[in-house]
Amino acid sequence: MPQRVALVTGASSGIGEATALELLQRGFVVYGGARRVERMQGIADRGGRILELDVTDDDSMRAAVDTILAEQGRVDVLVNNAGYGSYGALEDVPIDEARRQFEVNVFGLARLTQLVLPGMRERRSGTIVNISSIGGKIYEPLGSWYHATKFAVEGLSDSLRVELQPHGIDVVIIEPGAIRTEWNGISRDGAVAQSGSTAYAGQAQTLVRTYETVDGPRLAADPQVVADAIAKAVTARRPRTRYAVPSSAKLVLFLRWLLPDRAFDGVVARVFGGS
Ligand SMILES: NC(=O)c1ccc[n+]([C@@H]2O[C@H](COP(=O)([O-])OP(=O)(O)OC[C@H]3O[C@@H](n4cnc5c(N)ncnc54)[C@H](OP(=O)(O)O)[C@@H]3O)[C@@H](O)[C@H]2O)c1
Repeated sequence: MPQRVALVTGASSGIGEATALELLQRGFVVYGGARRVERMQGIADRGGRILELDVTDDDSMRAAVDTILAEQGRVDVLVNNAGYGSYGALEDVPIDEARRQFEVNVFGLARLTQLVLPGMRERRSGTIVNISSIGGKIYEPLGSWYHATKFAVEGLSDSLRVELQPHGIDVVIIEPGAIRTEWNGISRDGAVAQSGSTAYAGQAQTLVRTYETVDGPRLAADPQVVADAIAKAVTARRPRTRYAVPSSAKLVLFLRWLLPDRAFDGVVARVFGGS
């Protein structure tokens, strides 16, 4: 059987980097894509290919997929991982920034999926892995736009799974909990930049404190746990529809499922400050 070909977006850091390296180790031909090409040298050193990729730029996405098709003739696995957390009170965040958050976390993912689907449909095989979050099911103050994008990824991926099932293509949703990457710091910086000196400054400070606490090794997992779940999904004969990792993520999702909205609001308020 020929080596399977994978494209991993957001491979310059965190979950994407760990996933690219894990898939390389498991014998995939791996293309890592990101804007910071120099940050993907580790992938190149282990035999991966690296591509400059901006998921907000249609030409960049088309060029990346065209390169892979020219070199390999196929994309078997697309890991839509590129993303960031745009934090700040809804009242404070400019709508242009909200649009950017959707461009990266939702439209980039959808466009790349469009680009790889014709080949997958022709071969009647392939796997689309969409990195959502427990934040695709839970919510936080000052997180409206991030959660809006991840709730969108959940709905999009569920619809797509049933749409592509007759074509032999799998769609897998990954729901990470707290993972130690650059995501946390970027989200904190955004919250401070948008709401650090507005009517929401107190909530921004609480969010930053909570996120700083969560970012330590005791509460946040290594990105390798997500890479392992992704590798398991793309090598399974019949992957699960969702993988929530680490186990603390499963617990949070169970609580959300169990509790009525007001009760879960109470949990959120305890963690992030209610007023
Ligand atoms: N860390 C967590 O706790 C956590 C939890 C749940 C879900 N997630 C999700 O996991 C995914 C990966 O995040 P991470 O935690 O690994 O964060 P990270 O360390 O900040 O990595 C994010 C990656 O996304 C890429 N990216 C951002 N904007 C991009 C753009 N316009 N075009 C192409 N690539 C872009 C970055 O590359 P360049 O900047 O070089 O382009 C980087 O490689 C995200 O979708 C995130 O929402 C993370």
